[in-house]
Amino acid sequence: MKKWYAVIGDPIAHSLSPFMHETWFKENGIEASYIPVRVEPADLAKACESLLLMGASGFNVTLPHKQAIIPFLSGIDETAGSMNAVNTVIRKDRKFFGLNTDGDGFVQSLLTTEPERDAKILVIGAGGAARGICFALSRANFENVTIANRTYRRAEELAEETDASAMTIAEAEENLGNFDIVIQTTSVGLAEDEALPLSISNMKSDALAADIVYNPIETPFLKAAEAKGCRTLSGVGMFVYQGAIAFEQWTGKKPDTEKMIQLITETLGGNYVNR
Ligand code: ATR
Repeated sequence: MKKWYAVIGDPIAHSLSPFMHETWFKENGIEASYIPVRVEPADLAKACESLLLMGASGFNVTLPHKQAIIPFLSGIDETAGSMNAVNTVIRKDRKFFGLNTDGDGFVQSLLTTEPERDAKILVIGAGGAARGICFALSRANFENVTIANRTYRRAEELAEETDASAMTIAEAEENLGNFDIVIQTTSVGLAEDEALPLSISNMKSDALAADIVYNPIETPFLKAAEAKGCRTLSGVGMFVYQGAIAFEQWTGKKPDTEKMIQLITETLGGNYVNR
């Protein structure tokens, strides 16, 4: 029987996951489909039950359901547990099991820039996305991570859990020149044009600036960093690698990530993956 997969979220119409996974199914000669399903928060339990009954082989979970879905799954792995969020669901023995590939997806994207393991890394933000990234950086043996967040207490808590250091945003601004890699994980700049989570005037011109947002490809943070001459890494890589890890979990095959990064960059109308 032809297998099928889905992504659930609200909104979901603009998700690039169906394009990405269907392209990879074709490239790997796998007979399967991948459909976007809009699920309103109140319908999440029913949606999970329906996906199970109707035979979905797995699915992705996006906003606003990444946390809320956990009670409707039969279990989650350690990574999803430490993030308290799920972005990928696999089917095992007529049950759904949750994983989170976002943090590892980011780190795989970062690794394409060939960073030193002792690079001084600043993570801006301490929300769900930052949690995934900090745990994944620690698993990948990056030893020198500092977290700065508007709400300092959250930075401190995450730093304690991941053996990192914490700074206030003001301290991070002042010490920005010491960092080799600056990772922006907040939603600042999405709602408001040109807004930044912190002033980057002290950033080194040979530092790498990475954003987790991929649409727009050129976020205000990356634009400002590029204007200072910094290298930049857009969120497209994280999006593609989180999907690639999910694809491998579902099919056992490693998809072509490099070609997909190019395709999505073109689809989004950018020419801006400056690594
Ligand atoms: P996500 O799962 O996308 O990371 P989240 O858990 O709501 O979302 O976290 C959002 C992050 O962006 C947090 O680090 C948040 O800072 P606070 O912990 O202080 O709330 C940060 N953030 C959101 N809006 C911000 C703003 N206007 N200025 C600075 N930081 C902001």
